[in-house]
Amino acid sequence: MKKKTVKFSSASTTFYFDTSFDLLEDLTGTVKTVIITDENVFRTNQRKFKGWNTIVLKPGEEYKVQRTVDSIIEQLIAFGVDRKSFLVGVGGGVITDLTGYVAGIYLRGVKFGFVPTSVLAMVDAAIGGKNGIDVGVYKNMVGVIRQPKFLLYDYSFLKSLPKPEWINGFAEIIKHACIKDASMFKLLEQSKLINFQNDKHLLDRIIQKNALLKSRVVQEDEFETGNRKLLNFGHTFGHAIENTYALPHGHAVAIGMVVACLISESYKKFRQTDNVVAVIRKYGLPAYHSFDAAKVLAVMGSDKKKVNDVINYVMLERIGKAVVSPVSMDEISGLMIQLENKRS
Ligand SMILES: NC(=O)c1ccc[n+]([C@@H]2O[C@H](COP(=O)([O-])OP(=O)(O)OC[C@H]3O[C@@H](n4cnc5c(N)ncnc54)[C@H](O)[C@@H]3O)[C@@H](O)[C@H]2O)c1
Ligand SMILES: [Zn+2]
Repeated sequence: MKKKTVKFSSASTTFYFDTSFDLLEDLTGTVKTVIITDENVFRTNQRKFKGWNTIVLKPGEEYKVQRTVDSIIEQLIAFGVDRKSFLVGVGGGVITDLTGYVAGIYLRGVKFGFVPTSVLAMVDAAIGGKNGIDVGVYKNMVGVIRQPKFLLYDYSFLKSLPKPEWINGFAEIIKHACIKDASMFKLLEQSKLINFQNDKHLLDRIIQKNALLKSRVVQEDEFETGNRKLLNFGHTFGHAIENTYALPHGHAVAIGMVVACLISESYKKFRQTDNVVAVIRKYGLPAYHSFDAAKVLAVMGSDKKKVNDVINYVMLERIGKAVVSPVSMDEISGLMIQLENKRS
């Protein structure tokens, strides 16, 4: 086990890497704790939940909505949860987002911690304190920024994680390497997904690197006025095609990263698109998707991250060094029309 405490502006989060779920008993005790999880995680890891008060939700993004928040709150009241209680989200990003949000609003705030069980939650969603829900088609439209007291990493949960979810998580790992860590990018080039699935030490190494990388970026810019934007690498275009073409998030981000690389070629003289494409493919992700420029532009134009007529696009100067560059909607529109016709 490795323990590390990260200080944010108003609270600290302690990371317990490579540990066992049993540690939860020492951290919160069973009496004043309610676990929130989903049916998939509960069904495949039932033994772990013995003896804990547990709320089991239906799995899926479509349940990350106010209706679910209301039903959780009703159950918390029934459990008699008070200001001294602990909420613990045990699951993927949907569960950690919901748990963090409920913990932020129930009784104006109760203590909470996470046990992330998907790769994506371990390296991304559970970290940084953004916790929210969707409203209609608007993702993460409502929420709070509040840091969990702890993150407990028990990699044995990943034994039941379906392979497509491993792949989705690796899209964010590749993203982190691209924006901040050339040596991690090398490690990804030299390895394969199966190596991480079979070798706990290698897995622990990459999970820790990513969790701490995201923590550092957030620490420097908790309320997203600057560098936290770098984490949007691949996500501007990614979000614009994700819903339109019903793509898994990781696939959309992978395609978005390649588009961002191509844009970086024009604006930043970036020269390593081929390396990024090769790693994306190696981890089972797609590098291209045909798209309708008009549709993509319509979504980009309505993005909540757009300011006036400018999109702050995350580009790469080189692998491991990302920058945010403002690009006008006119220029974006020219680029999209060019890319629409450039298929490979
Ligand atoms: N708060 C943030 O900063 C932040 C950052 C990135 C993503 N997110 C959010 O995270 C969500 C995506 O996270 P996700 O991909 O983990 O989604 P998810 O929670 O839907 O999990 C993906 C699937 O894997 C299943 N699953 C998870 N762990 C499992 C396990 N150990 N065994 C078996 N099945 C398991 C889930 O039931 C689900 O079907 C999105 O809602 C996104 O908005 C939030
Ligand atoms: Zn993402």
